[in-house]
Amino acid sequence: MTSQTLREARKYEEACEKLIKKEDRPAFHLSARTGWMNDPNGFSYYNGAYHMFYQYYPYDSVWGPMHWGHAVSTDLLHWEYLPAALAPDEFYDRDGCFSGSAMTLPDGRQMLMYTGVVRERQKNGGILEVQTQCLAVGNGLDYEKYEKNPVLDEKDLPESASRFDFRDPKIWQKEDGTYCCVVGNRPADGSGQILLFTSTNGFHWKFKKVLSANNNRFGLMWECPDFFEMDGKWVLLTSPQDMMPQGFEYHNGNGTLCLIGDLDQGTDTFTEECNQSVDYGIDFYAPQTILTPDHRRIMIGWMQNWDTCNLRVTERPLWFGQMSLPRELHIKHGKLYQWPVKELDAMRSGRVEYKNVTVSDPVRLDQVNGRMIDMELSLRPKDNERMYRKFSVRLAQNEEFYTSLSFRPDESILKIDRKFSGSRRAIIHQRRSLVDCKGGELKLRIILDRFSIEVFVNDGEKTLSATIYTAQEADGISFLADGMVCMDVVKYDLRGDRA
Ligand code: FRU
Repeated sequence: MTSQTLREARKYEEACEKLIKKEDRPAFHLSARTGWMNDPNGFSYYNGAYHMFYQYYPYDSVWGPMHWGHAVSTDLLHWEYLPAALAPDEFYDRDGCFSGSAMTLPDGRQMLMYTGVVRERQKNGGILEVQTQCLAVGNGLDYEKYEKNPVLDEKDLPESASRFDFRDPKIWQKEDGTYCCVVGNRPADGSGQILLFTSTNGFHWKFKKVLSANNNRFGLMWECPDFFEMDGKWVLLTSPQDMMPQGFEYHNGNGTLCLIGDLDQGTDTFTEECNQSVDYGIDFYAPQTILTPDHRRIMIGWMQNWDTCNLRVTERPLWFGQMSLPRELHIKHGKLYQWPVKELDAMRSGRVEYKNVTVSDPVRLDQVNGRMIDMELSLRPKDNERMYRKFSVRLAQNEEFYTSLSFRPDESILKIDRKFSGSRRAIIHQRRSLVDCKGGELKLRIILDRFSIEVFVNDGEKTLSATIYTAQEADGISFLADGMVCMDVVKYDLRGDRA
């Protein structure tokens, strides 16, 4: 039975979506159908299509009582909106249906596991949110909340684990059929931990153990965990709040942490070996991954930073919030590598190629422009005896605006800077990233989609993502260097509409 709250949201989003022109949205990144979007939720492959749900407040372009928006795609790039899947309409989730995940039950139905939120008045008069884990089961369009919700609450928590920070279940099924889920939580030390729960049927859950403890190393509370095996390692992704920068890592306040290690499957003991940021730009948070039918591990994150949500087209746009590109993940040399999904190649058209272009004074190249593009640059010093000092590419450029990427080979630092992208806000606009570079050689793959830039460095060794809200007329690209750079360029247009 669809509740009144959900019916209203569905009616409202359908009407509002019509007010938004296609050209005013990203072409191949999922954006809020209308109103506000944050985390990806329930990313899954179900009945022949990819499903993406998302944290959603349809009625305004700011965060509000959370619903789950819903979209489907066959290529992870062209998304079709479906009616909102969940609304805060039960006693156990009346203040929000927070993040969660999805999986297919043996009987073919799809199950969503999410966090139900209820605000509770405290003795001191303040209000805190009680968080529990809940289920909804459906057919890919309509979902019925489980009559025995919540399925995990404070009774299931280990000692001194907070019932106010207990959210974002990510569920998966082991080969032996057991269901597992990891949930973000806050222990007594005030930082974060990831709890592991197991179930034999997906409906009755038991606490298993603390899979990983922050111990105040990386930020405080750990949100939106994901845990999977890949390339012979185990990977824990989580998005810590309130991180402190360490060298060139963890500059985003709230950002995404990748812990790579091993799992003893007999005791569910996760041993960390190394840690890194997932994205080295400004806007990336709360990613979820899936394993595709052809066994690729694909990740999509919310392409936004909580601290810079006031960078937007207008103060009250009709939509706010977009997802990152779907990225195929691998572990190489003990590090997380990311690359745009191969489905993006099918969108390429209008190939333009230049070889051995000398860059020093600013140059523009014929047909190298656009705001929906896929461009690969390979750089090296023009003269091996004389290292260049700095290379820059300016994108989304006109007389007034640009966003730049600049690289200094002596420091091996790549910088993204959107301060001249049209922003009127005093917020973070640049980020520096240490990249692996020898002899001034660097490879960049740059994807633009109207309101964003994503950069994949050296075959995916690092990524930098940022939203930009520059007027679309600013579609120029120019190259310049302090010193002499020799550059190859391959550039394609990315067509939003299916051919
Ligand atoms: C992360 C997050 C989640 C929570 C959701 C609420 O961005 O804070 O922990 O479930 O957003 O919208």
